[in-house]
Amino acid sequence: MTALIDIKGVRHAYATAAGPLPVLDGLEVSVEEGGFCAVVGPSGCGKSTLTRLVAGLMHPDEGEVWLHGERVRGPRSTVGMAFQNPVLLEWRSILKNVMLPLEIVPNGLKGNAAKERARHLLSLVGLEDFEDKRPSELSGGMRQRASLCRALVHQPEVLILDEPFGALDAFTREDLWQTMHNLKEKEPFTGVLITHDLREAIFLGDQVVVLSGRPARTQYVMNIARSVPADLEELYTAEAAERLNILRHQIEIAQGRAPQEAAQ
Ligand SMILES: Nc1ncnc2c1ncn2[C@@H]1O[C@H](COP(=O)(O)OP(=O)(O)OP(=O)(O)O)[C@@H](O)[C@H]1O
Ligand SMILES: [Mg+2]
Repeated sequence: MTALIDIKGVRHAYATAAGPLPVLDGLEVSVEEGGFCAVVGPSGCGKSTLTRLVAGLMHPDEGEVWLHGERVRGPRSTVGMAFQNPVLLEWRSILKNVMLPLEIVPNGLKGNAAKERARHLLSLVGLEDFEDKRPSELSGGMRQRASLCRALVHQPEVLILDEPFGALDAFTREDLWQTMHNLKEKEPFTGVLITHDLREAIFLGDQVVVLSGRPARTQYVMNIARSVPADLEELYTAEAAERLNILRHQIEIAQGRAPQEAAQ
């Protein structure tokens, strides 16, 4: 089976006043349809750059990015994105914020069908009673739920999440992890999740990719067989502890704090 997302041998350097800044150097990431790939790596190593490549917002100097068997050569409206700070428009209600991508993508649902679609997603994340509120009337966790609905409303072929839960407190974050599992079950998608939280990576991902320090290459890949339904208790098993240990060690290697030869 061919992967839905295929990043092959990607190299990239940003042009800066001080000269080229190599950011990616041999990036290999492959995500099957329906897969959820968590990407971890040192700060500044190139994770957000990776998301821009998948969304077609920039081109790599070398290598290829493929989505659904098509080479990515420009911005893709079939990608849904959510970020650490949900950028919701204050002058629109929550419902209208969620409907926004449908107004932008070609052949998006219109009128009542668009409303029903947005309402359906809001009910999946427990926001059915908040559709008429403005973003500032919601808590941070609720705003992030709305932002996830907006990213999924046009049934994107890929959902890209760049540290979406980073600004939330620990309990709200765990709530949102459960929400993600619930959403994935009801609205299957193929996803890439950038995160600094290793527990989040092993709880949500079926694959965890560790990037090396800048310029980033794919340093280590861990595959995780997901049990359904997911349960936070999974994070307290010996198996989870073992996974976290391996990943923590890989991050130390990526940060240059542990010997390189231990990398796989
Ligand atoms: N448009 C740009 N022009 C020049 N340099 C850039 C640009 N965008 C990012 N960089 C640099 O490229 C490197 C990688 O940036 P990127 O945002 O991809 O890192 P990241 O892994 O997402 O970091 P963080 O974990 O802090 O979010 C950083 O050193 C950053 O300063
Ligand atoms: Mg980033």
